[in-house]
Amino acid sequence: MSTVEQALKYFYENKKQLTESYFDLVRIPSVSTDPNHRGDMIKAAEFLSETLKGIGFERVEIHPTDMHPILFAEKISNNPNAKTLLIYGHYDVQPADPLDEWKSDPFQPEFRDDYLYARGASDMKGQVMASIIALESVLKTGDLPINIKYLLEGEEEIGSPSLDGFIISHTDLLSCDMILNPDAGMVGKDQPTLVYGLRGMTYFEVRVDGPKTDLHSGLWGGNVANPANVLSQIIAKLHNPDGTVAIPGFYDRIPPMSQEDKIRISMNQLSEESIMEMTGAPAVYGEAGFTPLERQGVRPTLDVNGLYSGFIGEGAKTIIPAYAKAKISCRLVPNQDPMEIFNLAKDYILSIAPDTVRIKVFLHSAGPAYLADDAPGAQNLVDAMQEVWQTPVTYKREGGSIPVATVMLRELGVKSLLTGFGLPDDGIHAPNERMHFPTWLKGIETLIRFYLSFGGE
Ligand code: BES
Ligand code: MN
Repeated sequence: MSTVEQALKYFYENKKQLTESYFDLVRIPSVSTDPNHRGDMIKAAEFLSETLKGIGFERVEIHPTDMHPILFAEKISNNPNAKTLLIYGHYDVQPADPLDEWKSDPFQPEFRDDYLYARGASDMKGQVMASIIALESVLKTGDLPINIKYLLEGEEEIGSPSLDGFIISHTDLLSCDMILNPDAGMVGKDQPTLVYGLRGMTYFEVRVDGPKTDLHSGLWGGNVANPANVLSQIIAKLHNPDGTVAIPGFYDRIPPMSQEDKIRISMNQLSEESIMEMTGAPAVYGEAGFTPLERQGVRPTLDVNGLYSGFIGEGAKTIIPAYAKAKISCRLVPNQDPMEIFNLAKDYILSIAPDTVRIKVFLHSAGPAYLADDAPGAQNLVDAMQEVWQTPVTYKREGGSIPVATVMLRELGVKSLLTGFGLPDDGIHAPNERMHFPTWLKGIETLIRFYLSFGGE
């Protein structure tokens, strides 16, 4: 039996028990943004550290940060000429709310049909565990032909505030020949995907303050500006009627789409019907003159992520709210400078704000887009995917953001293999997040083949 066959046999024979560790990880509610879950963050980091020690990692370190720990682990191959693969992952998840929209407990994994439902099932505890389970299958049945390093953070979903500094001050520790980052996903069940571009992001908040407290709207309405009305007027001016962003200078640095990009993007299809089906929206809406996949991959956006003002409880209450606030993100494309975009947005908003209110615009996070072909190891990964799915790999420019890829390219000089085994309708960041289990199993099989592809056979 070849080493691949032995590792696959081990995996399929021990599938049930190996899968348990995935369930155990999603049971830990490691919500990075919520201070009440600080202890769970440590639990998740410790769980992963024990798991990696358990499969034979000699060096496993938990590095404290100002917020959530960073885990580093290393397993050196017996082969002195072995290349080094750095695997990136995050063990934090988004909050589970709105809780009442979940059909099962977000932190109790539940199978329904072919899907496993849980917060983090897809983004990205399932991906992290797939990489570990594949590794265990290899380590239990033969020699590891490459050195493996793990870098697992707990702050990805809040913009990775500690990670840049850690990478910058640990470039020797993290030195590597290849980087696997399975935090992206697949285009569809039957389309194994390699992502070669990601959008960047500028995230900011606008706060409008008016009266010193909420006021009776009958007594004072009509005599002072209503912060909720003012904020709505500002938001309405952030887009033009054709769907483009109205902030002056927003598009200035974006080069026209190349013919090559157009062709490459048009090789995949995302129909309006499937957008409506997957999102449940009653219609498709977007910037005129671009296809859905162009809008997702190569065009920037501006979106309100959250709006808060006044009385939002049951029934009716008559007030002029004291304040209103909006959380706004811009997805950015290559050449747009995230700080410049923040400054343009801030200047524009301040310029259109009336002086009947006090207004503040402040930054949450900023990271540039990523675009890079031919990461080292790409052919090995493509071959492994094609072996498993028996279909050509799809190349995609993704709309989501994985800022660490840019940081690693700059600091370590290595491009990332961006992939993953989640699907567009997994509901990441949403209620009833899920993982398509058969696809997850194929993902593990792919990674087993990928790791072993660096051996002699
Ligand atoms: N895994 C996602 C990003 C992603 C999703 C990439 C689907 C490709 C396909 C990641 O965890 C995420 O949500 N990132 C944030 C980054 C932000 C907090 C800086 C995002 O894109 O909103
Ligand atoms: Mn993720």
